[in-house]
Amino acid sequence: MRKPVIAIDGPVGSGKSTLARRVAALLGYVYVDTGAMYRAMALKALRRGAAMGGAETSSTRTLEALASETRIDLRAEDGGQRVLLDGEDVTGAIRTPEVAQAASKLAVVPGVRAVLVAEQRRAGARGGVVMEGRDIGSVVFPDAELKIFLTASPDVRAERRWREHQQKGEAIGLERTLEEIHERDRRDRERTSSPLVCAPDAVVVDSTAMEPEEAARLVAMLARSRAAEISR
Ligand code: DC
Repeated sequence: MRKPVIAIDGPVGSGKSTLARRVAALLGYVYVDTGAMYRAMALKALRRGAAMGGAETSSTRTLEALASETRIDLRAEDGGQRVLLDGEDVTGAIRTPEVAQAASKLAVVPGVRAVLVAEQRRAGARGGVVMEGRDIGSVVFPDAELKIFLTASPDVRAERRWREHQQKGEAIGLERTLEEIHERDRRDRERTSSPLVCAPDAVVVDSTAMEPEEAARLVAMLARSRAAEISR
């Protein structure tokens, strides 16, 4: 019996990763964080000193070539995921504000997206997966059995991101974190190739005043009822 694909999209700091991880654990599905793939690509581009600004054709071509010669593997681990970039474990190295900004710049390049989207489709082809990102319900799996668009107020999103930076000992202020998420949101929403949009058939979940466990139970319940529907 085929298990559903659950697509979770939303802006920076909406709580996608926490939600997707918990839902995957509740259902026994595989968790896939697609942002980690864009981050891993961005880390490689930063290390190579590749330019990532604007739409210059030469930098676009360099990034597309880089994407086609890169191997990114996602390994499930303890309800989370490890990220291997050309065989190197970069799980921790991709979680910096610098890599996050570079990932959102690199994510505007259609050729880079095409390579990563193909990988993501392979990862979810058999179903039984909770995949989070920006374009999962709109582009990667437009036929996903359940689509969630997760939101939260900008202040709450900035605070969540800021706490994560604090825990890692990164010196970045709340104001700067708010600016950073606005900047990334704008780029994610305004790019022409697969922008962040709420798919028309997505269920919108506002996590501003919700406990993570509450949101996870709600989504797991919706997923179970979709799974029952498709098995009929
Ligand atoms: O979810 P995240 O913050 O780790 O993602 C990093 C960047 O990658 C984000 O700013 C936009 C991009 N991204 C994307 O364009 N499409 C996805 N499916 C996932 C991430």
